Amino acid sequence: MRIDPETVERIKQTAAVADVIGDYVTIKKKGANYWACCPFHGEKTPSFSISPAKGIYKCFGCGKAGDSVRFVMDMEGLGYGEALRHLAKKYGIDIQEEEMTDDQLVRQNERESLLIILEYAKEFFKKQLYDTDEGKSIALPYFKERGFSDATLQSFDLGYSPEAWDAFLKSALKQGFSQEIIEKAGLVTQKNDEGKVYDRFRNRVIFPIHNVSGKIIAFGARILRNDAKNQAKYLNSPETEVYHKSATLYGISQAKNEIRTKDVCYLVEGYTDVISLHQAGIKNVVASSGTSLTIEQIKLIGRFTQHVTVLYDGDSAGIKAALRGMDLILEEGLQVNLVVFPEGNDPDSFVRKIGSEAFIDYIKKEAKDVISFQANLFKEEAGDDPFKKAEMIKEMVQSISKIPDAIQRSLFIQKTAAMMRMDEDVLLAELNKIQLKKMKGASSDPQQISAQQYAEVRDLIEPVPADQPLEVQNLAYYQELECVRLLINYGHLEINPEKAPGLTVVHYLIEELEGTVFQTPLFVRILDLCKQEFGAHRAPKPDFFLHHVDEEIQSFSINISSDKHSVSSEWKDKHEIRVNTDEEMLEDLAYKNVLRLRKVYNDQHLQEILSKLQSLSADSSEMNEVLLEFIRLKEIQKNISQELGTVIEK
Ligand code: CTP
Ligand code: MN
Repeated sequence: MRIDPETVERIKQTAAVADVIGDYVTIKKKGANYWACCPFHGEKTPSFSISPAKGIYKCFGCGKAGDSVRFVMDMEGLGYGEALRHLAKKYGIDIQEEEMTDDQLVRQNERESLLIILEYAKEFFKKQLYDTDEGKSIALPYFKERGFSDATLQSFDLGYSPEAWDAFLKSALKQGFSQEIIEKAGLVTQKNDEGKVYDRFRNRVIFPIHNVSGKIIAFGARILRNDAKNQAKYLNSPETEVYHKSATLYGISQAKNEIRTKDVCYLVEGYTDVISLHQAGIKNVVASSGTSLTIEQIKLIGRFTQHVTVLYDGDSAGIKAALRGMDLILEEGLQVNLVVFPEGNDPDSFVRKIGSEAFIDYIKKEAKDVISFQANLFKEEAGDDPFKKAEMIKEMVQSISKIPDAIQRSLFIQKTAAMMRMDEDVLLAELNKIQLKKMKGASSDPQQISAQQYAEVRDLIEPVPADQPLEVQNLAYYQELECVRLLINYGHLEINPEKAPGLTVVHYLIEELEGTVFQTPLFVRILDLCKQEFGAHRAPKPDFFLHHVDEEIQSFSINISSDKHSVSSEWKDKHEIRVNTDEEMLEDLAYKNVLRLRKVYNDQHLQEILSKLQSLSADSSEMNEVLLEFIRLKEIQKNISQELGTVIEK
């Protein structure tokens, strides 16, 4: 249910950022700020700073930034609303729920009913396991035989569904659940055309599936005997309003804390792999449960760590699946290693065979990054065949091209060159070819840069000479960045209180940029937000962005706003020079920025026209029109440059 904005405000004000973070890590006061060792990446000396005045934190090591709500979201793996509720509960704030539309109400009620009946079902299945003759004589011995301890059975809420056709259905109806909600929860299925429903899970051991905060959202159910040929080994809940298979990882709620503190997540295939490893004391483990890994699942892991180790069966199907998954993980920017087990072993059987210490040693010894793994695999497969070898090296470079980080890419290229005894330049050329293809395919979205890089280049930004066409694309990015920086930090301030009282920076820029479409998607969203706020007669203050729900906007804003001032005042002290602050020259900054934006877009346009001119034959009928356009754009370029020149001279 939506929480009304006033309550949201109250929660944010009450949940002081230092107080909230102090519950998770040790914080130390230094001056106006607090410092801590960052809980999001392993470190020994603190680079995680908390500003109580601004209500935000920022890690100078890994770049994570946000406010108290964002912190709880990341630590607990919660959504925005869930994190607010979590804080409200902690600080004893009553939540005023906003009135919902009928449709929202129905969906909300349905979600809640589903969670309630799923919880009821879990308890039902547990009762069947522990308190019935059938459970005690069939299912409990099965679990014991697999080596699961009582504590393990409890911590994974394992259960049993009896053989009768409608044991659960009857019990749930008697309890007062409607047949409709029982169906929507996926707990019954329909028998062909008769319309009669019966229990989905019968005569199976039950593996409840928890979401990240520990609520039951679905079930997996295994047959007891491996020889039942005509039945699937596992039956699973269908997709429901609360269960989205592709966004779910089995074991995440039991594993999340350990994943964060160990800073690595083991990824396995099956329910029983998770459970056996957990029982052996290896608790940072989750399963993709038989489906191929999805981006949503990787993002879920990414909330807790940037390191994944894939533990897959040693058969060829397992290896193929692992390699596909690894490419996807690389693409998401996470680091990934792979461990393969001797054929015929999965993590479950292997850990039971050799014990947890030997298992951990095995992982340490056998973990290989994608490149080493592929190289070994390919050596076996290709032998001395040069064609095959070439093919495989290409595949390796293809994998490397998926890594978003340029430094990591080049390190992997070095490694590949050494391992395959190849010239590094040849591999680099191949990599560049792939990158180029990708860039042509996608829109030309310039790479994100950090606040520091930005600070380094900001002062270098000057009008572009027209003979540097390749730079133009990038310059548009920097000018848009500067514009957004002004909007976020100073949007609410008057641009020139003497000459134009009441005219805010946001007002000025929105009018000047009328009809302009930024080329960087994030900046488009920020400008749209400004327009929305301005349309509602509000001039957004920095806080509006620093505490924004959208993670990308929030962390960008924190990065673009925080360090600059302290740096410049330090600089002032050191050099005893008076430096104008941004606030004192808002008009100048905004005006120049608008001019430079126009110039940069005009230069882009010129460049297009220029290449069009070059491609036209002299007698083309279009020639005249294109030439006129060229002259017009040249004229604009001259005017803006002149104007910029006079502004700069001042
Ligand atoms: N799976 C499934 N449906 C199947 C087979 C498998 O959903 N018919 C999923 C389950 O999540 C299972 C995982 O794929 O845990 C891996 O399958 P498998 O290796 O066959 O199962 P194990 O987990 O090893 O189960 P067990 O040890 O009980 O045989
Ligand atoms: Mn198994």
